[in-house]
Amino acid sequence: MAETLVSAWGKGRDALKAAGVASPVLDARLLLEKAAGIGRTTIITDPHQTLTQDAWAAFEALIERRRAREPVSHILGRKAFWTLEFEVSSAVLAPRPETEFVVEAVLAETHKDAALSILDFGSGSGAILLSLLAMRPLATGLGIDVSDAAVAVAKANAEALGLSSRARFEVGSWDEKLSGRFDVIVSNPPYIASGDIAGLDPEVRDYEPRLALDGGADGLDAYRALAPAIKDLLASGGVAALEFGMGQADAVAGLLETVSLEPVRLIQDLGGRPRVWVARHAQGPDCKSLQAGKKTLGNNGSQR
Ligand SMILES: C[S@@+](CC[C@H](N)C(=O)[O-])C[C@H]1O[C@@H](n2cnc3c(N)ncnc32)[C@H](O)[C@@H]1O
Repeated sequence: MAETLVSAWGKGRDALKAAGVASPVLDARLLLEKAAGIGRTTIITDPHQTLTQDAWAAFEALIERRRAREPVSHILGRKAFWTLEFEVSSAVLAPRPETEFVVEAVLAETHKDAALSILDFGSGSGAILLSLLAMRPLATGLGIDVSDAAVAVAKANAEALGLSSRARFEVGSWDEKLSGRFDVIVSNPPYIASGDIAGLDPEVRDYEPRLALDGGADGLDAYRALAPAIKDLLASGGVAALEFGMGQADAVAGLLETVSLEPVRLIQDLGGRPRVWVARHAQGPDCKSLQAGKKTLGNNGSQR
């Protein structure tokens, strides 16, 4: 008997559940939508629609990939982040919800009409930089990533989102000297300790690029390189926002302080875990007004 949308959904869900997938109901639905070429509401409004042989075969193949723990975002080739949708592939980390706190932190520190220059170190899919450019229509940005495949994905995302006139993505490393000054510097660098990678979920360990994960012996290698680079490249009165991993808040703050950057605000994720440091030049002209919590960038000194 031919499968219907609802029977296929149920079989896919059961297969994923048996494989230990954490969200079998949602994942099976998303894969069914892709295989059947249907939109989000069709399964609800027309659940007994029969599946063609081709769609059923395609669905079975997608379920097999997910059973092997390939992330749904990689199978679909896209991931929602902030208010946008990004193309993703095995070349880039699929952007995570917790990274939205980096975006939020910068938005809280800057004025919506500011003509900001933004630097994103380790830009991956371009998620952070492009989300900021979408929210700050007069801003321009540069994304740097050591992976040329990641840079290609970020450029494609900039194009697809209509932001390519304000976003540049280049292959490079935070170890290399860049010139100029930026009002905003953001980064979500690799921060997993090398020895912890083997214990990660298979979705991350086996499918996300190692370059996006491996932070060296203690997970802090990138911050050691980023702190002096940020100090040199951050404009006077500028703001940096850095994501970090579990238990790294104090160490990252210490690395910022050794180069006279001042960690001024610690942001926690929805689980209450410290996630993002907002930092400024310790001796910068805006320190006083920042401490008062009033000053915003790019607004000629007026208040938010
Ligand atoms: C955790 S991922 C973050 C990607 C993206 N910013 C996001 O938040 O979704 C870290 C990124 O840093 C890049 N990366 C690793 N080492 C780097 C280096 N030395 N210089 C620049 N980028 C680097 C990786 O290729 C990867 O894209």
